[in-house]
Amino acid sequence: MTSSRNFALIPAAGVGARMGTAFPKQYLPLAGKAMLRHVLDTFAACSAITHTFVVVSAEDGYIADMMTIAPALKDRVTVLYQGGESRHLSVLNGLKAIGNLLTNDDWVLVHDAARPGLTVALIEHLIDALHDDAVGGLLALPVVDTLKRSEVLDDRKPDTTGTRVRETVSRTALWAAQTPQMFRYALLHRALVSALDGAKPITDDASAVEMLGLQPKLVEGSPSNFKVTLPHDVALAEMFLRGKV
Ligand code: CTP
Ligand code: MG
Repeated sequence: MTSSRNFALIPAAGVGARMGTAFPKQYLPLAGKAMLRHVLDTFAACSAITHTFVVVSAEDGYIADMMTIAPALKDRVTVLYQGGESRHLSVLNGLKAIGNLLTNDDWVLVHDAARPGLTVALIEHLIDALHDDAVGGLLALPVVDTLKRSEVLDDRKPDTTGTRVRETVSRTALWAAQTPQMFRYALLHRALVSALDGAKPITDDASAVEMLGLQPKLVEGSPSNFKVTLPHDVALAEMFLRGKV
C-alpha cells in the first residue's frame, strides 16, 4: 500500500459567480499569475506528486493560453475538458477520465483551483499524515470564531447581512474543511458515485466518503490555504501569495 503513487486532481470548471468577474475566477491574476497557475506550479514543484490533472469546462477558452506561457507545466499537467455542472460532477468526470492510468490504491489529492495559497510543504504534510491510512483525509482548520446561526429570511440568501441571530452554535470539535482531500482512487470513485443518489448536494469529497460510513482523518491546514470566493478575498490572497515561500 505504501508504494501507491500520489496524483493531483484539480476541479477548475466553475464560473466564480460569487466573485462576479467577467471571466472565471480561477483565471484572475494574483501576484503576477493566474490563480490556477499558482496551484499547478505548486503541484508541479512537489516531487511526491506523480502527475496533475486539471478539469476545466468543455468551453474553456483560457487554459490553453495559460499552459502555453508555462512550458514547465507541459510534462507535469494534463488538461481534461470534462467539467460538470457541479464540483461533485467535475471531480467524478475527472476520475473517470483517468481511470485507466491509475491503480485502485493510488492516492488522489483533490484540490480546489480557488485555493492558490497551497504550498509544497502543506502537500507533503498531508501525504506524510495519510500515506498509511486506511481511509484518507483532508486538510482542515479548527474553527476559532464564535459561530452564530441567523434567522433565515430568504432561502436563496440565508447569509444576508442584517439578518438577526437565532442562536450561538458551539464551536467545540468543529473544523473548517480545506483541500487537498486525499483518498485512494477506488474509494473516492465509489463514494462520489454513490453520493449522486443523495438528497443533499455535496460540496467536498470527504462528505461523500463520510456517507459510506467512513471517518476521514483531519490534518491541520493553514489560514493561507483559504478559498478565494468573494471580491474582498482577492487582496488577502495577493498578500499571502507575495509572501509565499
Ligand atoms: N468547480 C468545478 N466545477 C463546477 C463548479 C466548481 O470544477 N461545476 C470548481 C471550481 O472551479 C473551484 C472549486 O470547484 O476550483 C470550488 O468551487 P467554488 O469555490 O464554489 O468555485 P465556483 O463554483 O467557480 O464559484 P461560485 O460558487 O461562486 O460560482
Ligand atoms: Mg461553487
